[in-house]
Amino acid sequence: MSASKITPEHIRAMKARGEKIAALTAYDFAMTRLLDEAGVPLLLVGDSLGMVVLGYPDTTHVTMDDMEHHTRAAARANPRALLGADMPFRSYENPDQALINARRLVDAGAEFVKAEGGREIISQVNAIVKSGIPFVGHLGMLPQHVLEEGGKYRIKGRDEAGRAKLLDDAAALADAGAFAVVLELVVPTVAREITERSPFATIGIGSGTDCDGQILVTNDLIGTFPWFTPRFVKPELNAAEQMRSAVSRWKNYLAKETQ
Ligand code: KIV
Repeated sequence: MSASKITPEHIRAMKARGEKIAALTAYDFAMTRLLDEAGVPLLLVGDSLGMVVLGYPDTTHVTMDDMEHHTRAAARANPRALLGADMPFRSYENPDQALINARRLVDAGAEFVKAEGGREIISQVNAIVKSGIPFVGHLGMLPQHVLEEGGKYRIKGRDEAGRAKLLDDAAALADAGAFAVVLELVVPTVAREITERSPFATIGIGSGTDCDGQILVTNDLIGTFPWFTPRFVKPELNAAEQMRSAVSRWKNYLAKETQ
């Protein structure tokens, strides 16, 4: 691939070539710039920032103002990567509201928006795509619905009804023109089936290895949120421990200098 700006068409072309799509979350200028310099083609200002940056218990507390603030910071890195933003909880309850809020995120620097759900939000997705804003879907476990699920993040597609619903939602998102869909905690065989049947790129998280790409919360990958790491993540770095030791070494030097 040339060093040109990544577009939704590049992501579709990567799927067509069978090239795995690496995707990570980025919430600010420095993180976006570092991940871009590492060559990650797809970056998301995820509403997971609610937990790993803002300290909320789940994503339902994240507002449009939060998302705009972080999207602006990430966009200032002017990445080669395609940079998108999550539409937060209750920001896309009808087509008019979805379009107004998708435009706010685009004005803040998002090059695509992502929202959770399938057929039940399809009129919102149609409004967004028809306005020319690239759209990424999110199926499977939907973090914005965690309270309805009794606070549990459950695997989806375990039985035939669950599998059929996922396939139907995927078909609806394909018809609406989503260029990629995140599959979160989907049974791997169902994630593979969606990947094989769909024109969009599937980006898995906890859904097995057969998706077109994988996304992780960057803090989980590098260990900067050590208090909770999802079971499917193998951290590549323990940055929290390195930070604690670096700070305590510096504190010890200071203490010695003042003796
Ligand atoms: O909010 C988020 O970070 C996400 C990704 C983990 C897919 O939705």
